[in-house]
Amino acid sequence: MTFSLLRRAMLACGALAVLIHSPLSHAADPVKIGLIAPFSGSFADYGKQMEGGIKAWQQIHGDTVAGRKVQILVKDTTGPVPEVAKRLAQELVVRDKVDVLAGFGLTPEALAVAPVAEQAKKPMVIFNAASSVITTKSNYIARVSMTLPQISAPMATWAVRNNVKKVMTLVADYAPGIDAETAFKTNFIGGGGQIVESIRVPLRNPEFAPFIQRIKDARPEAVFLFLPAGEQGVAFMKGFRERGLADAGIRVIATGDLTDDHVLPAMGDATLGVITSFHYSAAHDSKENQAFLKAFAAANPGAGRPNFMAVAAYDGMAAIYEALRKTGGATDGDKFLAALKGMKLQSPRGPITIDPATRDVVQTVYIRKVEKRNGELYNVEFDKFEGVRDSGK
Ligand code: PHB
Repeated sequence: MTFSLLRRAMLACGALAVLIHSPLSHAADPVKIGLIAPFSGSFADYGKQMEGGIKAWQQIHGDTVAGRKVQILVKDTTGPVPEVAKRLAQELVVRDKVDVLAGFGLTPEALAVAPVAEQAKKPMVIFNAASSVITTKSNYIARVSMTLPQISAPMATWAVRNNVKKVMTLVADYAPGIDAETAFKTNFIGGGGQIVESIRVPLRNPEFAPFIQRIKDARPEAVFLFLPAGEQGVAFMKGFRERGLADAGIRVIATGDLTDDHVLPAMGDATLGVITSFHYSAAHDSKENQAFLKAFAAANPGAGRPNFMAVAAYDGMAAIYEALRKTGGATDGDKFLAALKGMKLQSPRGPITIDPATRDVVQTVYIRKVEKRNGELYNVEFDKFEGVRDSGK
């Protein structure tokens, strides 16, 4: 072999070695996303809505981005059980080698997983869990859903502007409930309103009857409510109706978790006129929402109406795809978070931004009223607060 041939052969081997060791050789590997949420127990709908939102996104945008397939690994926390959520996250990171952790229906799940994301430097994208503090627990967390202070403060402002003067609050007794109560009270009292009494009910299986009686006896003009989406809201509204609180002139103002779009059609006419503040309504009038509703129905036959958790998962996928496009398919935690910071998306709910300083979502909060449209109950938006940040940190 001549010297130049030998040199060329050695260069070729070197190039091959570089190819084998360079991250580019992983370009064809799938990007693995671990979806951690409840898929069983009384919060099972949270996981199902999120998975439905992911399917809706992939229905439109496919399952490949930046040359890599996107694979979803679904894990059931069985409810707000922090130890299970943490173990699932550890298994996903260590055994399944996921690139991104996502989901998190309830705050305790997200708080339990935050140290795992921090230690492994894994991007953790929150699709629901909404107590303010979560994003401070790891630099690798970004949230695309909402926070309770973000949603509750506008409800208080709207109430004082609309002559509601005496309110009783009732919230679930855990971090998001306390966030909601604090933000509502601060803004309501700050605007000249009076809080008659504040009630906190257990997160698991609350028995509403005695609390509803207390509300009736106190005779406030309205009760402000935060309960995690699902069965609890249905139970509260049933008790409210049966004990004649509406007839006694007591109004319900709440965060939109109460009249969650997935359960609203089955909640009945007792919800007519309920005022809520929230970031998403299935009745939101935009072409992005039309496309989302169509894709959700096509990808999830028989699943009914999507709610805010499905939208957050859809937007979370939009954010993950966009970040992967920006990094050229790389999933390194620091690069990935840099790509997420400051990102702007046109969501089915309206424009959203991931605040580069807090990694929390900035968005429009709408005031809505339950009304009938074509014979079905909807949260109809009639007022809004634009560019709202989390005020809880
Ligand atoms: C939460 O636990 O953070 C949570 C759960 C359900 C909601 C909102 C927040 O509807």
